Amino acid sequence: MRKMFAPVTIAALAVSGAARAEGTVEVLHWWTSGGEAKAVGELKSAFEAQGGTWIDSPIAGGGGDAAMTALRARVVAGNPPTAVQLKGPGIQEWAEQGALNDVQGVAESENWDSVLPPVLASIMKYDGKYVAAPVNIHRVDWMWANPKLLADAGIETMPTTWDEFNAVADKLMEAGITPLAHGGQPWQDATVFEDVVLGIGGAEFYRKALVELDQEALTSDTMVASFDQLRKLRGYVDPNFPGRDWNLATAMVMRGEAAFQIMGDWAKGEFLAAGKVPGEDFLCIPTPGNGFVLNSDSFTFFKVSGEENLKGQQVLASLIMSPDFQKTFNLAKGSIPARTDVPLDEFDMCAKKSHEDLLAAIENDTLVPSMAHEMAIPRSVRGEFLDLVTEFFNSDMDSATAVKRLSDAVARAQ
Ligand code: BGC
Repeated sequence: MRKMFAPVTIAALAVSGAARAEGTVEVLHWWTSGGEAKAVGELKSAFEAQGGTWIDSPIAGGGGDAAMTALRARVVAGNPPTAVQLKGPGIQEWAEQGALNDVQGVAESENWDSVLPPVLASIMKYDGKYVAAPVNIHRVDWMWANPKLLADAGIETMPTTWDEFNAVADKLMEAGITPLAHGGQPWQDATVFEDVVLGIGGAEFYRKALVELDQEALTSDTMVASFDQLRKLRGYVDPNFPGRDWNLATAMVMRGEAAFQIMGDWAKGEFLAAGKVPGEDFLCIPTPGNGFVLNSDSFTFFKVSGEENLKGQQVLASLIMSPDFQKTFNLAKGSIPARTDVPLDEFDMCAKKSHEDLLAAIENDTLVPSMAHEMAIPRSVRGEFLDLVTEFFNSDMDSATAVKRLSDAVARAQ
């Protein structure tokens, strides 16, 4: 890929031990919902408490698609932000273009390698050097439920297969309750889709289809069955779903306007910001199936210059990885710390379940990266999935046609 910038390293400028105060950062992110704003506010205050100057650049739009468009424009104009909420292969893509600074000096002096799960550490590094720092581990395959509505419809056991989910949803419909709160935006449709693929096909199938982009998997009966299930789910949403933001769908579950939402645990950040208590006001239930769909937010350091900005990057890197920050931030964000050595005793039952299931998924080899949340495949190919899944959700396309069109589009995009 073309180098957009001459390679520069700031490792040589790295401070030793804990990073010093001051420095300036302009941070581009898409954390604008109630829970998200609270969480990023923790980062801002901690940075400012160390004497630094924080310039906030929020770009609204769940899932970050609008933010990524804005980022590209900024980099092309030669004016990148200091730090950007970015993930997975996206980090590598920008690094390959020579657009990133590294923070290897901070990472080495703080021994990041010894406190990060290897799967995350490798995503954060380019050419053996850290160019990004992870803040959290989000789980995508969650359902959020309103316990009162479930009780009203006489539902006592939580579904563990998609067939069971359909039976529960039918029961809710009979009781006049909307089973599913959903926001019809491509990334939300894709979020639901990947959870369904995991539940119907299992982790190995998920990996083949959504990570390795294997044509046999993409054209298989299992893929047809996954689209069939997505079609069922389409029948369980209310008529006003098109264009709805994800946090408004979460609010529907809170207010008792729908029984479930299928969404990653940033939705828990919304419940918590509204003062709701897990296990009482809302339930967290893994979506039907076995495994764990991984999504980790990180901040990536772009190629800025000037002592003040370079210092800002190092102070921010060190702060993000500090155990105290990882605790405070994740308590607000709904996720669990990226560091493996942060005690979870102050975290709630959903976070503890997430951690437990993460360890089990690593053990059983059922941990899979999120396609919808840019952890699995290049952005261009992900775009093909989002386009097709959304078209399917919003039309009467049959599953066989969806599978044919998707597999063709993916083959062309590779
Ligand atoms: C991010 C979360 C964010 C969510 C909704 C996901 O892709 O990883 O941090 O809260 O999108 O905006």
